[in-house]
Amino acid sequence: MNVLLIGGGGRESAIAWKISQSKLLDTLYISPGNGGTSAFGTNIPELSIQESIHFAHQNKVSLTIVGPEAPLIDGIVDEFKKNKLTIFGPTKSASNIEGSKIWAKNLFKKYSIPCAKSTQFSNLESSLEFFNNNNPSEWVIKVNGIASGKGVFLPESLEDVNEALKEIFIENKFGKSGEEILIEERLYGTEISVFALVNNKNVSNCVPACDYKRIFDGDIGPNTGGMGAISPPPFWTSDMEKKIKNNIIIPTAEAMANEGCPYTGILFAGLIITKKGIKVLEFNCRFGDPETQVFMPRIKSDLLEILIKSSKSPLNENIHIELEDTYSTGVVLASNGYPGKYISNKEIVGLSGSKEEFRSIVFHAGTKSNNLSKIYTDGGRVLICVGLGKDYKESKELAYKKVRSVKFDGMHYRKDIGENRNL
Ligand code: AMP
Ligand code: GLY
Repeated sequence: MNVLLIGGGGRESAIAWKISQSKLLDTLYISPGNGGTSAFGTNIPELSIQESIHFAHQNKVSLTIVGPEAPLIDGIVDEFKKNKLTIFGPTKSASNIEGSKIWAKNLFKKYSIPCAKSTQFSNLESSLEFFNNNNPSEWVIKVNGIASGKGVFLPESLEDVNEALKEIFIENKFGKSGEEILIEERLYGTEISVFALVNNKNVSNCVPACDYKRIFDGDIGPNTGGMGAISPPPFWTSDMEKKIKNNIIIPTAEAMANEGCPYTGILFAGLIITKKGIKVLEFNCRFGDPETQVFMPRIKSDLLEILIKSSKSPLNENIHIELEDTYSTGVVLASNGYPGKYISNKEIVGLSGSKEEFRSIVFHAGTKSNNLSKIYTDGGRVLICVGLGKDYKESKELAYKKVRSVKFDGMHYRKDIGENRNL
């Protein structure tokens, strides 16, 4: 069958790599892909929703897989369904779970899904007033809509609060996404990303990972899209999986079905393990980046087969994602300046022979190729080097061995991926 994959980051590289191994696949199209995805399929230009519907009809595409959240929140799934095309992902209304933090929070409250307490605000004055009686360092400020990971503020002082609220309400930096905000109780604990395939009330087993969001070693400095990840986390147990599935994932799937917006797709729970139990920080309506790059090589199942199955409605069985008993570590190589303004167009050397070796893989993210088959940097996060091992030590060694074989001007990365993820 022919498959269309939408997106062009590291996450889509990992999905393309895995789909390309499926015995069910004829042709994989990736829109727009990156400098590495052409090894797994055919890169095509970025398309609007209507153009992708046209493309799917013209090219007999049997399944479309959506990587990023924006087309899902814009309603690509609804449009494909109207045109009788099969697509993997949630509808526009179900994507609210990521698209509106206020909508999600109201759902959690109504269905007693464990999360931080919060209050909603829609102007500068009332938000400022809240901090007359509340210590900034005990609260988190979040814009309601999507903001490429930049809409969450963890203020330490009133100056930080003023700065954040100025960006949101005076400079309107977040546009519509920042018209409303949540001020949320700050939680402390270890964060974990958990993924499950959901089709209405059917929920698969959970796939766990931890990411490394801050730019510098020791989890300091500004937040990034993610500088690395591991899967599974060292503290993951079947008992923890059972708790998360029964107390968080299944109740959320059931709540959404009850609210008339049943969820179909991969549900990504951003959780925090606190002294008072496991709580939801946020849900996303898509695969995580860079978590997908580390857990995809651990999946034994035919990804295409399970994504098709979970796109079918109604589904009368739970999908099982079969995982290898291996440990995976992924180290992101970033451009000079990232996560601020970064420099692109630097030639990457050392990639030849590094496509895929036994137990280590380099996935491309912000890269492009020229006709002479040279690869250049084309984004903040450029590559991710993934190592798979029988334990953390081996997977980490393999990932960093790969890192040392690749070079581009200004390349920087964290040296501590795989460490400091304990309870
Ligand atoms: P979110 O986009 O909601 O996942 O937030 C991004 C990051 O902000 C999370 O991964 C956490 O590190 C942090 N964060 C969000 N909400 C809270 C909270 N209530 N308490 C502490 N940290 C939080
Ligand atoms: N790694 C976090 C995310 O994909 O949003």
